[in-house]
Amino acid sequence: MWPNAGVKMKNKVLETLYEKKGEYVLVDEIAQELEIPESSVREHIKSLINEGYAVESSSNKEFKLDEELTLILPHKLKNQLSTSYIGKEIHYFREVDSTNEVAKRLAKEGADEGVVVIAESQKRGKGRHGKPWISPLGGAWMSIILRPDTLPINAPQLTFTAGVAAADTIKEEYGLDVGIKWPNDILIENKKVCGILTELSTEINAIDYIITGIGIDANVDLELLPPELREHTTSLKRELEEDISRMLLVKKFLENFEKMYDEFNRGNFSNILNKWRKYSKTIGRNVEIRKGTGFIRGEAVGVNNEGALILELDDGSLKKIISGECRHID
Ligand code: BTN
Repeated sequence: MWPNAGVKMKNKVLETLYEKKGEYVLVDEIAQELEIPESSVREHIKSLINEGYAVESSSNKEFKLDEELTLILPHKLKNQLSTSYIGKEIHYFREVDSTNEVAKRLAKEGADEGVVVIAESQKRGKGRHGKPWISPLGGAWMSIILRPDTLPINAPQLTFTAGVAAADTIKEEYGLDVGIKWPNDILIENKKVCGILTELSTEINAIDYIITGIGIDANVDLELLPPELREHTTSLKRELEEDISRMLLVKKFLENFEKMYDEFNRGNFSNILNKWRKYSKTIGRNVEIRKGTGFIRGEAVGVNNEGALILELDDGSLKKIISGECRHID
């Protein structure tokens, strides 16, 4: 079972502090609400502080969460953003099913290009290949509405565009050595720290809108992930051994993304792909690509101009892979 009962209760204490929006809350009030002894509340608060949550106390009887350090504050983010259209309108939620779904609804209602949806947590976060994306508090979960003037066939290129923007952000801001697993998993030493899900809506061979969803395990407590994910996942907090400001992370990402997306719109996808190639952890490796129930193995020898992976099979022939789940096998 995961997460264990202690972690669940600690999260409930955290939720209670969140709900009070930066006001002091009495320990005995939390204890009564959660039906646990005051001593347990104090223990949970102690471990939240150890994890880097900005929990303060005036006396030892009441505590509050410093929102500025802990939450992504949308108004502040908007004021600090130096973009010209990405994130000029931000829809911010404490919790949603999936930011991609919210963005889709907004796009259907006619929202402009560049509208961003951010949530502190997602109940039904979506990953690639229909997998769930576990999205507890502490992550950066966001979706961007795009309306590029290009053919639907070029939509996967936006995944590369977002991937390079995410890799640049993590490398430049935190000095971490990041790589990309084809097509778009951002890795730190072979562990995934960020995933990208691009969803497309078309109308008679034209793009109506694209939703690019980005999930970064920023301050995610890895204990909150199921064990089978935990061994292949890392977080920025785990790598840096301290909490990061997710507001700064989101700001830098959106700024880098706008630069890359402008490059894409100027028809310079080859520049983006060249950057991607420098980050690639897949080219030169033996890989297994899964699609549905089938799979194919080979050596990844390159990506072509559309971003398709080129595999050299055992018989020496080359195979172009447009989509699928990639696993490094050596
Ligand atoms: C992957 O499987 O690697 C893609 C994960 C994408 C997760 C992000 S989190 C924000 C956005 N909303 C979702 O439901 N999914 C994406």
